[in-house]
Amino acid sequence: MNQYIDLIKQTFDFPTKEFTVENDQLKFNGVDLMEIIQQYGTPLKLTYLPKISENIQNAKTYFNNAIQAHDYKGSYTYCYCTKSSHFSFVVHEALKNDIHIETSSTFDIPLVRSLYEEGKITKQTYIVCNGFKRDLYKQYIAELLNDGFVNCVPVLDNLSEIDYYLEHVNVPFQVGIRIAADEEPKFGFYTSRLGVRYNDIVRLYEEKIKDNPKVSLKLLHFFINSGIRDTAYYWSELTRFIQKYVELKKIAPELDTMDVGGGWPIKTNVFFDYDYQYMADQIVKNIKWMCAKNNTVEPHIFTEFGSYTVGESGAVLYSVLAEKLQNDKELWYMIDGSFITQLPDSWGLNQKYIMLAVNNWNEEYHNINLGGLTCDSMDYYNSEAHQFNIYLPKVEEGKKQYIGFFHTGAYQESLGGYGGIQHCLIPAPKHVIIDRDTDGSVKHWLFAPEQSHESMMKTLGYVSPTEGK
Ligand SMILES: Cc1ncc(COP(=O)(O)O)c(C=O)c1O
Repeated sequence: MNQYIDLIKQTFDFPTKEFTVENDQLKFNGVDLMEIIQQYGTPLKLTYLPKISENIQNAKTYFNNAIQAHDYKGSYTYCYCTKSSHFSFVVHEALKNDIHIETSSTFDIPLVRSLYEEGKITKQTYIVCNGFKRDLYKQYIAELLNDGFVNCVPVLDNLSEIDYYLEHVNVPFQVGIRIAADEEPKFGFYTSRLGVRYNDIVRLYEEKIKDNPKVSLKLLHFFINSGIRDTAYYWSELTRFIQKYVELKKIAPELDTMDVGGGWPIKTNVFFDYDYQYMADQIVKNIKWMCAKNNTVEPHIFTEFGSYTVGESGAVLYSVLAEKLQNDKELWYMIDGSFITQLPDSWGLNQKYIMLAVNNWNEEYHNINLGGLTCDSMDYYNSEAHQFNIYLPKVEEGKKQYIGFFHTGAYQESLGGYGGIQHCLIPAPKHVIIDRDTDGSVKHWLFAPEQSHESMMKTLGYVSPTEGK
């Protein structure tokens, strides 16, 4: 058992739904990755669009199954949290699935306007506006409301935010309130800085919403930073949240929705065994039970899944440029990209991804470290979620090794400052989009070539040597 393929089969339950091997080479969701590399070269980011719709449909199924199983009276609404990936091809694909939008900051609103102009959303689409807001964000929200986006719901992040809308919105409108959740005990502070503290919520409602015919309270929102996990911490925070909903509902009869935020996990290792259906069941069951106990109408449930919508659609493919043996046992594979700039979560959060060889699966393997191109000694990747080593095929003289990081589709471009200045001026890789035709055949096209030096020179205030030639 010294071939790479044997190692992977013995370590994981392999092949999986997403990963298969044919003729020594990896396929990702049935897509021949070597064919993509041969056509476009590396480094290369890709988005496999069908995965976005598949995941949205799966989440809807899990929640609707739970609603049916528990004879739950409320409905389920899927919102896409745009900050996970603002790219048009992602949002357009997501919107094919009868979903709604959650925004995080000012520039999301021009994005929403553009979606409306293109006919991708209507004025009935829910636009759930989160975040601690600067005046321009509040202004854009007020303009949406005044323009008839009736389901635009600013979620109040503090006690005074509502004053702006009361002054500038000319039509009746709805708001939400975000509850400041307590962070996990191991966190650096106790309560989230985002949202309104538990004890202030009733007062906010009574002082500014209750007797004002212009505004009504639509939803109560909560978001748990560590995600929707089967832990005592998650269930106890959820329970506290439902209790507050039930208490508020007694004085705010128009309140009818509970937004349980994002944080539906994705597969970041091949051992992943999260039970989505069980989690949806438990959420619905908990809310139902507490409502029954308090004689409260069961609320509609909103989610705002970002990573879950887009994470598993993304991958980044690299070539091994060279090997470097830096002492008797530490062998480096130098890649044609950078972890810091292109997979910043792997550097900043120690996030692990699924990492696999793309070719040479029948070669012997060995333990290596992966090194990025920047000068930073932290620009490396050398452990996986389940083990402290990484293994890749040995590269025979004259052969090339390609590797892939998978399920990287959420947050990496915006955190890495896609299209801007990167550490050591490492360019953003080219980006290829992959889709399937109605007959199931694979099609792909280039969304953007590798970032050019001209674009960086321009941002830095230099005249590019090629400019004007
Ligand atoms: C308010 C809110 N909703 C939704 C999300 C999306 O989270 P995820 O990408 O984990 O689903 C976030 C992420 O930070 C958030 O802050």
